[in-house]
Amino acid sequence: MVTEEGDVLFSEETIRNRVGDLALRISADYSHVDDLLMVGVLRGCFIFLADLSRRLTIPRSIDFIALAAYDRTTTATGAVRLIMDLRTDVRGRHVLIVEDIVDTGYTLDYLYSLLRPREPASLKTCAFLRKPARLKMKLQIDYLGFDIPDVWVVGYGLDFQDRGRALPDIRTLPA
Ligand code: IMP
Repeated sequence: MVTEEGDVLFSEETIRNRVGDLALRISADYSHVDDLLMVGVLRGCFIFLADLSRRLTIPRSIDFIALAAYDRTTTATGAVRLIMDLRTDVRGRHVLIVEDIVDTGYTLDYLYSLLRPREPASLKTCAFLRKPARLKMKLQIDYLGFDIPDVWVVGYGLDFQDRGRALPDIRTLPA
């Protein structure tokens, strides 16, 4: 069960500062873009996306996509399925995927293979967390909050069996 007693990896203040850094960089890099399309990957992204989008200083739109692993208990296949597609036509748009955490990388890899054929003007990724030790493939992450060790984390939108999402900081699961 998720209690409030896991070890804090990143405090609210650390998160706020890092999100501010990312927002500055993204705002600068897309300063020439009329309307950046932020694509949030549900469900874990919702708090990060809310904070990040409010700190951008450029015009932006928001859409969501929902994906899930076919079977979380076996990490062998990496098969990902689409639960809810975007409402927006991404053709010709500058698209920034916003992910809560990149673990094996299968989800992000699937997203690239789904969105690239739709011919966006550009396609980049902003991930709040990444676990380098778990990555199964080489993936470009253009904007990254933090690398973390191979531990399960909750808080700031991330859950364990739907618990812990509303914690304001990022914590490891309590033993
Ligand atoms: P990937 O396809 O293995 O990269 O998995 C990405 C998804 O797994 C994320 O979007 C999360 O939903 C979930 N996930 C992976 N690691 C964690 C974690 O430590 N805490 C919460 N969710 C996680």
